[in-house]
Amino acid sequence: MRGLDGAAAVVTGAASGLGRGMALRLAEEGVRVGILDLDGAGAQTTAEAINEAGGNAVAVTADIADYQQCAEGVAAVGAALGEIRILVNNAGWDRAGPFIDSDPQLWRRIIDINLYGPLNMQHVVVPQMLQNGGGKIINIASDAGRVGSSGEGVYSACKGGVIAFSKTLSREVARRGVIVNCVCPGPSDTPLFADFAGQGEAGDKLRASLERAIPLRRLGQPEDIAGLVAFLASSEADFIVGQTISVSGGLTMHG
Ligand SMILES: NC(=O)c1ccc[n+]([C@@H]2O[C@H](COP(=O)([O-])OP(=O)(O)OC[C@H]3O[C@@H](n4cnc5c(N)ncnc54)[C@H](O)[C@@H]3O)[C@@H](O)[C@H]2O)c1
Repeated sequence: MRGLDGAAAVVTGAASGLGRGMALRLAEEGVRVGILDLDGAGAQTTAEAINEAGGNAVAVTADIADYQQCAEGVAAVGAALGEIRILVNNAGWDRAGPFIDSDPQLWRRIIDINLYGPLNMQHVVVPQMLQNGGGKIINIASDAGRVGSSGEGVYSACKGGVIAFSKTLSREVARRGVIVNCVCPGPSDTPLFADFAGQGEAGDKLRASLERAIPLRRLGQPEDIAGLVAFLASSEADFIVGQTISVSGGLTMHG
């Protein structure tokens, strides 16, 4: 894809699941990738996979819920890989359960990671992008933020917030070259989904019923999401601004 080769990116949460797939795919396109994750060992494993395949990646351990750690993590990636042209805010977390059984302590952790996390990262990176003449930001929200998801009330609120924030930030900075878009995965086969579905028979039943509901009759895989992220980061997508795109095998369809 045009405009990716030689660019530097930060992908949060790329130690695992969808983010790992995005980091590997960007690296295939010649992007130098900073893997920023709370799980330092996992981040290192992703970076090694990229470097062993001939790419260029560094791993940084940071909690996106902490502004200072975001600033230090981004500075470390910049020092190793140069000017950051692409930011993928992918890291996310949830603990599923009925809203009425949850407590404010859990809400706070979910909001800190899923809403403050992307805000922290963008507040650190956008000024650098503006100074350097532009950049691409891809925020990984969720279909939960568009259509809701039982057991994920506060998480859905954060993802809906990320979608609204992405549109507003786009309006503020697009003409200065910083382009923001959102990608909404549908149910995808990752450790986060396994946690959401739960263990044993109940988990198997939920998975099977979702597979029946998805027109393509399967959960998403990391490769299903990664191509769109690479496309949005590339110059092929320079005129796509403030959009929210679902990748869900057809489970949700929006016009
Ligand atoms: N899997 C799905 O069904 C699904 C559906 C819709 C949206 N999403 C979204 O896709 C993104 C990736 O999810 P996944 O399914 O690959 O999950 P995952 O659990 O496999 O990976 C998430 C990664 O984020 C990292 N992370 C979590 N909290 C962090 C923090 N505070 N600071 C830094 N890193 C942190 C984890 O260590 C992990 O490496 C998330 O934003 C998630 O909300 C996933």
